[in-house]
Amino acid sequence: MTSRKRPQDLRSHRWLGPNDLRSFGHRARLRQGGFDAGDFADKPVIGIINTWSDINFCHSHLRARAEDVKRGVLQAGGFPIELPAMSLSEPFVKPSTMLYRNLLAMETEELLRSHPMDGAVLLGGCDKTTPALIMGAISMGLPAIYVPAGPQLRGNWHGQVLGSGSDAWRYWDEKRAGRISDEQWAEIEGGIARSYGTCMVMGTAATMMAIAEALGLSLPGASSIPAADAAHPRMCAASGRRIVDMVWEDLTPQRILRPAAFENAIRVHMAMGGSTNAIIHVVAMARRVGLPLDMQRFDQLSREVPVLANVRPSGKFLMEDFFYAGGLRALMAELREKLDLSCLTVTGKTVAESIAGAEVYKRDIIRPLSDPVSSEGATAVLTGNLAPRGCVMKPSAADKRLLKHRGKAIAFEDYNEMAREVECDDLDVTPNHILVLKNGGPKGGPGMPEWGMLPIPKKLVKAGVRDMLRISDARMSGTSYGACILHVAPESFVGGPLAFVETGDEIEVDVPARRIHLHVSEEQLARRRAAWKPPVPRYPRGYGALYSEHIGQADEGCDFDFLEPRGAIAEPEIH
Ligand code: FES
Repeated sequence: MTSRKRPQDLRSHRWLGPNDLRSFGHRARLRQGGFDAGDFADKPVIGIINTWSDINFCHSHLRARAEDVKRGVLQAGGFPIELPAMSLSEPFVKPSTMLYRNLLAMETEELLRSHPMDGAVLLGGCDKTTPALIMGAISMGLPAIYVPAGPQLRGNWHGQVLGSGSDAWRYWDEKRAGRISDEQWAEIEGGIARSYGTCMVMGTAATMMAIAEALGLSLPGASSIPAADAAHPRMCAASGRRIVDMVWEDLTPQRILRPAAFENAIRVHMAMGGSTNAIIHVVAMARRVGLPLDMQRFDQLSREVPVLANVRPSGKFLMEDFFYAGGLRALMAELREKLDLSCLTVTGKTVAESIAGAEVYKRDIIRPLSDPVSSEGATAVLTGNLAPRGCVMKPSAADKRLLKHRGKAIAFEDYNEMAREVECDDLDVTPNHILVLKNGGPKGGPGMPEWGMLPIPKKLVKAGVRDMLRISDARMSGTSYGACILHVAPESFVGGPLAFVETGDEIEVDVPARRIHLHVSEEQLARRRAAWKPPVPRYPRGYGALYSEHIGQADEGCDFDFLEPRGAIAEPEIH
């Protein structure tokens, strides 16, 4: 039992408490905002980091939800301050939101550090916003609670359920094959995203929101609540109430994020059939706490935990259905025997208490361990001479015939070349070929864009082919599917072996053995390496240049080297 803070122990007291000229200025400016001294004196100041923006429709409701959080903070005797942060709208930000994840993490950390904040409520959900907010909050070290934006409602077209991303890819191939018309395609465009909230398949957003909850960083059950459900603003207000007590209890992320919490989160990720992107983000979050987390650990756990959530793209249903089936608490209860139930959460209680009484209401949506959706793990980590530091794949979303495969490569130097070639009717390609895309990694993309689900060549699509092996150093959207091998490390842009693959080379992939091998002799590879010229850096100046200089590879979590823990940063001087 830790002792509670006293008002004079609050961090904000340095700004607001002293009887001096500077504090007079701070208090006078709060009163300029219409607040009385009693509104803030001796109260925890709660920073609500809000990633709302006019161009992020996954977060459209967060403007209103911040008010619900404030209501909760006020009810519990805190003083809320909303701080807008960059929104990282997945569909619009180019070349990739991943280029900016670390920038949002830095913004989160520095917003909290530079202002008189005692605790933080983190409002996000659209893909990179979740890890970014959490990484920043970890590095700042203040008590923080994560409020997930929640998934949007199911898509609908002619009475058929549509899933974000997954059904766009699927119907795009139908359109390329001439099976649906332009009019039908336009109708799908109007029906695939029906409400505010995040993508509602088990994409990166749903995966990361669930991981945040499994880590213990949000209220139990929060991550599964659809954005449009009335339970969502209630959860926001409850989070606002809870953060005030977390400040008094000094319940920081460092106290919650023990190694076992990360193991729980990875197990939940596997049971959810989560996005491959999660590996990068979980590694990055763990490293911010100072915990080295190896990609191999994901592979080991994927062999122990089958996919239980029957949600697309690995399964059939959507996140709205998952909520009605009992949500994450029910799934974690199903996984009980594989979790460390003693881990602490933002509630101040254990995971055991968080999932007590949780039940599965729809057995076809949340399966038991004895009857999983797929015994193939959600994430396999392969290594070999083509990926010495590893690469990842989602076997549960791939055609099983491709899990052990040897074929000839068709290698593309960049995305534009690949995009042109796959549309050519005379491309020399069969379903047994392996498409290889270079220069899609952290530095090469730049920003490791979600290019990894390379389009099936049009010629094959017309012949009815819907999956083939594809290899790249890019990521793929969590809403994507297929036999896509991703995150090859080191990437081709920095001279990883992927750079030396040529069309016609044979590649062998053996997912059960976790191997990937380029059948080219060492001597030949050495000759190609000697002839290779490093590409010109992508950016001459600015944030991109900073990014390129400091970004880590996929297996390291793609964090900036200077953001990794290196001792405490002093509180700002107040003069
Ligand atoms: Fe925002 Fe998918 S686009 S979560």
